Amino acid sequence: MEKAVPTPDTSDMLLRDVMRSDLPIFFDQQLDPDANHMAAFTAKDPSDRDAFMARWIRMLGDETITIQTILFDGQVAGSVLSYEDEDERPEVSYWIGKPYWGKGVATRALSAFLKHIEVRPLYARAAKDNLASLRVLEKCGFARIGEDKGFANARSEEIEEFILRLD
Ligand SMILES: CC(C)(COP(=O)(O)OP(=O)(O)OC[C@H]1O[C@@H](n2cnc3c(N)ncnc32)[C@H](O)[C@@H]1OP(=O)(O)O)[C@@H](O)C(=O)NCCC(=O)NCCS
Repeated sequence: MEKAVPTPDTSDMLLRDVMRSDLPIFFDQQLDPDANHMAAFTAKDPSDRDAFMARWIRMLGDETITIQTILFDGQVAGSVLSYEDEDERPEVSYWIGKPYWGKGVATRALSAFLKHIEVRPLYARAAKDNLASLRVLEKCGFARIGEDKGFANARSEEIEEFILRLD
């Protein structure tokens, strides 16, 4: 008689801890001009590799910051993180490499991350015209609670953003 074969894990999205070897991939992903325009509130100079590496090494050593690498089909597709904003409110953010956009990766990664990070309320921000990010947040249960404006490095001007909260 044949032995039962375990059901294969068909999940194509996984979160895991960040490995140092992920950082050059994250660096390349955050260089994309369209992604920068969307995210708007970005690093002053995304092409500054040393500044990027220093920032990430510091973030990985900060116990108030939780970061996970998003794997899609076994490849490093991006990152999702939570940190405390200037008012010490926990906030989430994420960045997906362009080749992986439009496949539900951000939505699945954020919902998995929200099971990992149990603190509530949890906040998020998105430029008012970052419709994809707003959609991801709202699909994951976040609701718009206010708005703000700030200087967006990627656009060299002050722009408006929505503040969202998950209770
Ligand atoms: C925003 C971002 C995370 C989206 O990632 P993604 O993996 O493509 O997102 P998903 O596929 O899970 O979902 C995107 C949703 O937005 C929708 N969407 C995409 N572009 C849209 C647009 N221009 N207008 C309206 N909705 C849009 C998609 O249809 C989808 O919704 P649906 O499932 O109801 O169809 C990704 O583009 C990214 O990393 N951008 C650069 C960095 C960034 O903006 N980070 C967020 C900072 S707040």
